[in-house]
Order: sequence, then C-alpha cells, then structure tokens
Amino acid sequence: MKLDRLIASHQAMGRQAAHLAIAARRVRVNGVIVTDGHHPVDRFTRVELDESVLQAPERALYLMLHKPVGILSATKDDQHPTVLDLIDDPDKHTLHIAGRLDRGTSGLVLLTNDGRWSKQLMTAEQKVPKVYLVETLDPVAPEAVEAFARGFYFHTEDITTLPAELVLLGGNQARLTLHEGRYHQVKRMFHRVGNRVVKLHRESIGALALPADLPAGAWRMLTPGEILAAAEDA
Ligand code: URA
Repeated sequence: MKLDRLIASHQAMGRQAAHLAIAARRVRVNGVIVTDGHHPVDRFTRVELDESVLQAPERALYLMLHKPVGILSATKDDQHPTVLDLIDDPDKHTLHIAGRLDRGTSGLVLLTNDGRWSKQLMTAEQKVPKVYLVETLDPVAPEAVEAFARGFYFHTEDITTLPAELVLLGGNQARLTLHEGRYHQVKRMFHRVGNRVVKLHRESIGALALPADLPAGAWRMLTPGEILAAAEDA
C-alpha cells in the first residue's frame, strides 16, 4: 500500500488532505519524516501523524524449524501434531509455511507471517534450489543420475520435471537438488527409476541451510541477513 492511501483511510481524510499533511512534514514512517505520498508501507510499518500513532507495526516473523518425522506441515489439524505445535511464540497463529514437507519427511521448514516474502520465495521456486538427503530401499543405480537430469513427465500435472542433480553417496543414499517443488516430487522421481524412498530429509532451501546445532523439533528466528539472503536468492 502507498502512504497517502493509508493516511487517508486511517484518518478518514481525503487523499488530497493526506498529501498536504505529508508535504507539511507531519508524517513519520518508522520514525523518519517522509514527504513522498507514494512511499510503500505495509502492516509491519509504523506510521505517525503529528504526535499520534496511525498504525502500530505488527511483528514480522521469519523462522526456520527442524521438522521431525511424524509432524504435519500444517498450521492446524485435528489428528496430528503440526509444526505450529512446536513453536512457542505469542504471535505464532499469524504464521504460514513457505514450502511444506510430507509428514514422514524431516528437515528444514520456513515459516513467516510476511506474505510478500514467502511469495517471493515461492514464485521463484524454479530457481531456489532445495537439497534433500535421500535413503532408498534398494541401492541407487548410477543410471538414475542421468534420468533425474533429463526430467520425468508427470501426467497428473502435465509437466516435465526440471533438471535435478542427483549425487550418489554410496549404497542406498543420495543427495538430490531440486529447483521446483511438486507434490511428493522426490518420492515420485525415485519411483520412476524403480526404487523407493524410505527416508527423506531437507537440508537446505536456497541460501538457508539447516544448522547442525538445530535439533529435530527445534526452531529459531532467521537473522536479518538470512531474511535478505533468502529473498535475494529468489
Ligand atoms: N518430495 C517428497 O516426496 N516429499 C517431501 O516431503 C518433499 C519433497
């Protein structure tokens, strides 16, 4: 939203009067006088007119969570515990998930209440690499590397998967990098090469990797640098 619109709606004054107030240097945005009516503001912005607070900022939350196996990537469920149940924050009900994992998958999940940030991550999904550690029922065949790089046609969605990088780690383990996030994508890809995923763990999303000191079930706020890096990545 633009600053002039926010002031006009909060003060029930016309856009013209809002412009005049802004031009008269009566408006502060996050504590700084702003004289441009088109200055962008959102619900996380503090806006003051003279001595009164027109809009108190909401807390913007950005966090990473190490999802354990068995927890649902959802904010509400009647049957299973969800990732929100693991979070202890008074504003946790405002969060949504930026990229879900299956219940049986562990690893990095990002949550935020900033829809613009998550949208940036999501719409650029084709570019943001997501890295998975995969354990399979049978040894991973070397030919799978080329098949994953070529892509698989998924007739339900009528798409061919983007080139994915599969690195064999020996025996039944591999590391897979995807540049998109289709429904059950990793499992479906391994199924196509006649194998089955028995364990799946997401290690990273773009620039954000699950830190070694964040155990399963734990979460932490992202640092300002991480918030920026994730969006830049997108
Ligand atoms: N692919 C899957 O099959 N499951 C996940 O949880 C994530 C990617």
